[in-house]
Amino acid sequence: MYSGASNFVNATDTAFLFIIGISVIFLVGITGTLIWFIFRYNKKRNPVATQIHGSNTLEIVWTVIPTILVLVMFFYGWAGYSPMRNAPEEAMKVKATARMWSWMFEYPNGVKTDTLYVPVDKPVALDLISLDVIHSFYIPAFRIKEDMVPGRGNKLWFVAQKEGSYELFCTEYCGLSHSYMFTEVKAMPQPEFDAWYAKMADTTGQSAPVADPVAEGKRLMEKNGCVVCHSSDGTKIIGPTYKGVYGHKLVVITNGKEREIIADDEYIKRSIYEPDADVVKGYTKGMMVSYKTSLNDKDIANIIEYLKTLQ
Ligand code: CUA
Repeated sequence: MYSGASNFVNATDTAFLFIIGISVIFLVGITGTLIWFIFRYNKKRNPVATQIHGSNTLEIVWTVIPTILVLVMFFYGWAGYSPMRNAPEEAMKVKATARMWSWMFEYPNGVKTDTLYVPVDKPVALDLISLDVIHSFYIPAFRIKEDMVPGRGNKLWFVAQKEGSYELFCTEYCGLSHSYMFTEVKAMPQPEFDAWYAKMADTTGQSAPVADPVAEGKRLMEKNGCVVCHSSDGTKIIGPTYKGVYGHKLVVITNGKEREIIADDEYIKRSIYEPDADVVKGYTKGMMVSYKTSLNDKDIANIIEYLKTLQ
């Protein structure tokens, strides 16, 4: 269905089809033989069992043939896998960060997105980083998949060969909202990608305030997956709801001691950068990791404007 979407499709499909072909031949062959033996050697046709003692020919045949088949499987597998481990030098480097439960892609110019944008026919090398638990990066159409283990950087590369949008998701059960780790890779022709890249670079690091801070704050929270754990309507999910938080009194646990605080700008910022510093009473510590690398001061100011509207 996605023939040739990436440079790894043909080799992977060849290995897969070869292995499945051999498996089907054996399935049919063994099942057929089994049925034939039931018919041929039942009690009516063959009342006295025949004992067979050793057959060198048979032993050699069923050792040599499977060995050759397995080695051919290994050959196809290795021929497809080996190039996957070595990204070309000139590849565009993108940092892919996974956390419970969102994706973030960071490009060489500092642009960050939650969808992976790549140019067609250009190698892209990904640095796979997990901030919390084991996730797994998977683009089925590109035939690439790699575990993301916290504390251990992993790598992956590919060349998108056809323009289009393809599914990208986490394929390691990583907690309650694992299914939210679903996004897309968009492969664009080089000129279109360049235009997008330049436009994004212009808007990154800009200090001018956005036209609508409330909408921007909401967008940031959706993009960063905040809304997966925090509701805005008072529902308790994994973390506290945003409704009626800003400017109100909260009971939090700080260094194991209960205390009362007002949810002001400083508190919101600390909750995003150091989520375990003041945990709202009744919630579990260690469920969220810092967003220091994903959200800057300007982003937090916009998020606060959005939170103010949720009263
Ligand atoms: Cu991350 Cu499943």
